Amino acid sequence: MNRPASAGLLGDTVARDYGWKLRLFNAFAEAELRQTIAGLQLQPGSRVLDAGCGTGEALGWLAAAVGSDGMVVGIDLARAHMVASRANAPAGALVMQANLTQLPLAPASIDLVWSVNTINHLRDPVASLQDLAALLRPGGRIALGQSSLLPDMYFAWDARLERLVNEAVRQYYRDRYQVSERELAGIRSLVGRLRQAGLRNVTARTFTIERVAPLGRADHDYLLQVIFRGTWGERLRPYLDADDYEALVRLCDPGDPGFALRRPDFHFLQSFTLAVGEVRSNERSAVVS
Ligand SMILES: C[S@@+](CC[C@H](N)C(=O)[O-])C[C@H]1O[C@@H](n2cnc3c(N)ncnc32)[C@H](O)[C@@H]1O
Repeated sequence: MNRPASAGLLGDTVARDYGWKLRLFNAFAEAELRQTIAGLQLQPGSRVLDAGCGTGEALGWLAAAVGSDGMVVGIDLARAHMVASRANAPAGALVMQANLTQLPLAPASIDLVWSVNTINHLRDPVASLQDLAALLRPGGRIALGQSSLLPDMYFAWDARLERLVNEAVRQYYRDRYQVSERELAGIRSLVGRLRQAGLRNVTARTFTIERVAPLGRADHDYLLQVIFRGTWGERLRPYLDADDYEALVRLCDPGDPGFALRRPDFHFLQSFTLAVGEVRSNERSAVVS
């Protein structure tokens, strides 16, 4: 991939725009994401930063959780994502285009940093977590959400094909972004990174995003457009042998009688992990230094 040296680990720049995928993902996983936010038991009046807010769907969910006395701020690097976030943001929310490596917020001004599928895009995630921790008020928390970076997804078909496809996707990402297998272990690195950044009381909980046939519109659109046509599209051809690639194309083709999303046995599993760490009043200075 041709990417500027200033781009993030997974190719993010000010000019990059994959907002269409973010909209589809957030519509697909809205119920689980809202449930995750509810589980954080935010106090009314809390101040929340969505770090890497993408197209801004979570801003409204977070605003509902903190109530009219609360405050929600969204930050994103990509211009197009920031514009979409502003359009989506509830009244009173603040959306800024900024780099998480140069945060434009005052120290000790935030109660919760919410950041979904973003920390794994940064070149130095621990340093960024330390910077985010410095924004927290005493007792404040960072909540890192991560869905499978690579589709560690499970479908109800040929387990061999599933294994080969998942390996092909990993190889594609390694080649495209010149990253190692270790750097792709997004979920398993969350707890360690929070601890390395000095956060305390780190917890992790994994939710299952599970769908069975018949699918709703948001499920159908996300799986067809983002996974089947994006993650598993033409780009996997070089990574599979011809028969396996053809078998995959048939499963993913709405015009094929075997189209996966119409199969009565369609059953899909994907994980969503939330890792939460906290700064405590008497430890904040250690985190910031
Ligand atoms: C996979 S998306 C997730 C977006 C959103 N949190 C969601 O769940 O839909 C990652 C987001 O992080 C943003 N991003 C990547 N690197 C960033 C950086 N250094 N500073 C701010 N935002 C960044 C990207 O522009 C993108 O919107």
